[in-house]
Amino acid sequence: MTMPSINDKQKTISHSHRVSTSDDIEVSTYLEIAKGLKIEQTLPEIKPLSLAKRETIIIIDFGSQYTMLIARRIRECHVYCEIVPYNTPLEKIASLKPRGFILSGGPSSVYASNAPLPSENIYEQHIPVMGICYGMQVITHQLGGQVLPGELNEYGQSMLDISDTTNPLFTGLPNTLPVWMSHGDHVIDMPPGFKALAQTENSPIAVMGNNKHIYGLQFHPEVAHTPHGKEIFENFVYKICACKGNWTPARFKTESIAKIKKQVGNEKVICALSGGVDSAVTATLIHLAIGDNLTCFFINNGLLRREEAERILDTFKRNLKLNIVYVDASERFLQQLSGVTDPETKRKLIGVEFINVFEEEATKLGQIAFLAQGTLYPDVIESTTVETKAAVTIKSHHNVGGLPSNMRLRLVEPLRYLFKDEVRELGLALGMPEDLLWRQPFPGPGLAIRIIGEVTKEKLEILRGADWIVMDEIKKAKLYRQLWQSFAVLTDVKSVGVMGDYRTYGYLIAIRAVKSNDAMTADWARLPYDLMARISDRIVNEVPNINRVVYDITSKPPATIEWE
Ligand code: XMP
Repeated sequence: MTMPSINDKQKTISHSHRVSTSDDIEVSTYLEIAKGLKIEQTLPEIKPLSLAKRETIIIIDFGSQYTMLIARRIRECHVYCEIVPYNTPLEKIASLKPRGFILSGGPSSVYASNAPLPSENIYEQHIPVMGICYGMQVITHQLGGQVLPGELNEYGQSMLDISDTTNPLFTGLPNTLPVWMSHGDHVIDMPPGFKALAQTENSPIAVMGNNKHIYGLQFHPEVAHTPHGKEIFENFVYKICACKGNWTPARFKTESIAKIKKQVGNEKVICALSGGVDSAVTATLIHLAIGDNLTCFFINNGLLRREEAERILDTFKRNLKLNIVYVDASERFLQQLSGVTDPETKRKLIGVEFINVFEEEATKLGQIAFLAQGTLYPDVIESTTVETKAAVTIKSHHNVGGLPSNMRLRLVEPLRYLFKDEVRELGLALGMPEDLLWRQPFPGPGLAIRIIGEVTKEKLEILRGADWIVMDEIKKAKLYRQLWQSFAVLTDVKSVGVMGDYRTYGYLIAIRAVKSNDAMTADWARLPYDLMARISDRIVNEVPNINRVVYDITSKPPATIEWE
């Protein structure tokens, strides 16, 4: 174990009255905090030397569906955090120099034979710990208390009565507040040294804590149904873990540029741009670090929206001054798609063709060492959390990240610890245009998965016309940023209509507009009727071969956002 023992730390401190290593905060700051806690005499062992300057909270994951939300809440406090699986070796955790630990909830029972438990040494590090739900039960179990299955499962909102109102965890909170419960097991005996700090009707020990800053919360402060959850996290990170909240885009930018320079040196990097936020921010950041040793590719697959390729190229070249290779491969993609109607086959063909084009173009550049990808933290977590979800493939996603595995390139992924909204903030700090940063997501396979049935040039033109109108009207109604996505789908249904005195027989267009935070779930947007009427009128009047427009009122699940 590489974490310093308390004796080591005390020894170091006795050599110096003021902590002066660049990695530590000042003693005065710590004492101020300790004073605020009114517990300086009971906590002589927590020494400033354990407080590294890069404020990091470690979330130990036991497989809760809410773990990612905990991370979001901590980042909202402008404090850096990482999620690690419960069985991560302590040495690895220690190397991140945590200021605090959060133990997540989880589906297990601490008494199950294979119950996930962390190393008990985390309690010996003199670093604050907050266990949430299962995390609280883990603390109880490991430190000598008792957990039992509840007679009543507690699920839903409960009122929490705070009994220890001066505890720093509750600073600024009302004495009674609604909290979200979701548990079967509960703590019946606290470990030695703990006391109950708050109660609900069914949980006499709804919050517990000891004078070593180890806390257990039976409820979930991370979910929106606990309205004061944000303040609880703020109290934990600022008042208990002594963080200042210095995780800002500007700081991330400076740190990342230095890191990229170190990783890449004088080697060459390639990056495929999609026009989306992630690859654009990735490329801009890397370009700042290594200049024209970064070559970007923008491959037009012929499945883009009206004027999209021109606009993207203009932004990248003129605004962001990237070194960019534009490849118009439209014909190749359309040939591949000729006669294909099955959604999965379309997706796969587009993915393979993309890789072919990319490889051909990249080879022309000669010796390349690195591939840049816009991987985000949610993708990283998906592949490292306790239970890897998503056993069934609903759709085989293609994006510019899924690139050739046989190219033997090393990866540069500067955004791999960021959430989407942090990427946007970073983009702003990099001076990127807001239009680009707030672009609604657009899928890698483009309009091909919004044309039901075979993709042809004629159908692409029809869909581009309808899509243009949807976008135009949504923007005029100032709803663009409020919607996760809004677009048109060209169905393969034809129906009879009447225009003037004539019978028409035209295609049916469906409009899809959804609200979502992360695309995992989505709700269909309640667009104003007047807006829907304008969209429908314009599409039928301005786009040839369309005589009927419908609105998709299905949420995800059970539907998906895209139709194919
Ligand atoms: P679904 O249709 O699965 O889409 O609900 C969820 C989100 O992912 C986008 N999407 C894709 N993005 N490559 C991408 O880069 C893809 O192959 C792909 N398929 C769907 C979709 O637009 C939505 O935001």
